[in-house]
Amino acid sequence: MRLNNSQKQKENINLSNELDIERIPEHVAIIMDGNGRWATKKGLPRSFGHNKGVSVLKKIIKISKNITCKILTVYAFSTENWTRPSKEVDFLINLFEKVLKKEINELHQESIKIKFIGDLTPFPESLKLMINNSESLTKNNKNLTLNICVNYGGRQEILKAAKEIAIKTSSGKIEPSDIDEKLFNSELLTNGIKDPELLIRTSGEKRVSNFLLWQLAYSEIYITDVLWPDFTEIEFLKAIKDYQSRNRRFGGIESLSNESFEDSYFSSLSKND
Ligand code: FPP
Repeated sequence: MRLNNSQKQKENINLSNELDIERIPEHVAIIMDGNGRWATKKGLPRSFGHNKGVSVLKKIIKISKNITCKILTVYAFSTENWTRPSKEVDFLINLFEKVLKKEINELHQESIKIKFIGDLTPFPESLKLMINNSESLTKNNKNLTLNICVNYGGRQEILKAAKEIAIKTSSGKIEPSDIDEKLFNSELLTNGIKDPELLIRTSGEKRVSNFLLWQLAYSEIYITDVLWPDFTEIEFLKAIKDYQSRNRRFGGIESLSNESFEDSYFSSLSKND
């Protein structure tokens, strides 16, 4: 069933009203997958999928802000994406710059803070400059932080952190016994950013593809078959609603409805040992 715009808006409002405002995830991470397949299915060049992907991202930024989600982290270019044909790589790099130039003022007006995560070294100077300007212009914005992961890889990030810690240990700055999760976190590119409560992946692939490997340890994962260019605010709200139905146990157990029965069962087991 295809919905027209006003039907879509109504469904948005309905779904937004159904959300538990006490349980909006503070941080949502997204693997925006399926741009190429979307375009190919339509007989179009893959670049059309990336262009459409940008307009979807704009809508998802808006709705995230509206439901008071505080951090949105998107995977825009992985360390492995360099293996794509150079024409596609160049297109994506140009697209990042073009989109930033076009959208930065509106994002700033909406009080969105932009942060790029990844190794920016191989990118053209003009893009690096644009990134720097965007980050400094928006650094005090409060409504939503948009983290854009480019030339980012989770394994590379962990290796870099491990190297930094090894250097600090061998120079005597820290002791091996000082190494704990907090210290390790502080060496990651995401230092200071809380872990995502929810990871959304579009296009049905069931893998994390080197994205936020450390940070996703206890994130809830929502996978939809919808390709990123077809992803909508409604789909996003569905993901949030699904997240709200999850019972997050972080390796513990649900609170027991029959605690005394459990107690006596476990103590009878230990008596029989
Ligand atoms: C994955 O689809 C998508 C990408 C590698 C690029 C995502 C980039 C955007 C949506 C543009 C974002 C722009 C800014 C400024 C952040 P795919 O190409 O891997 O699709 P496929 O799996 O169907 O081939």
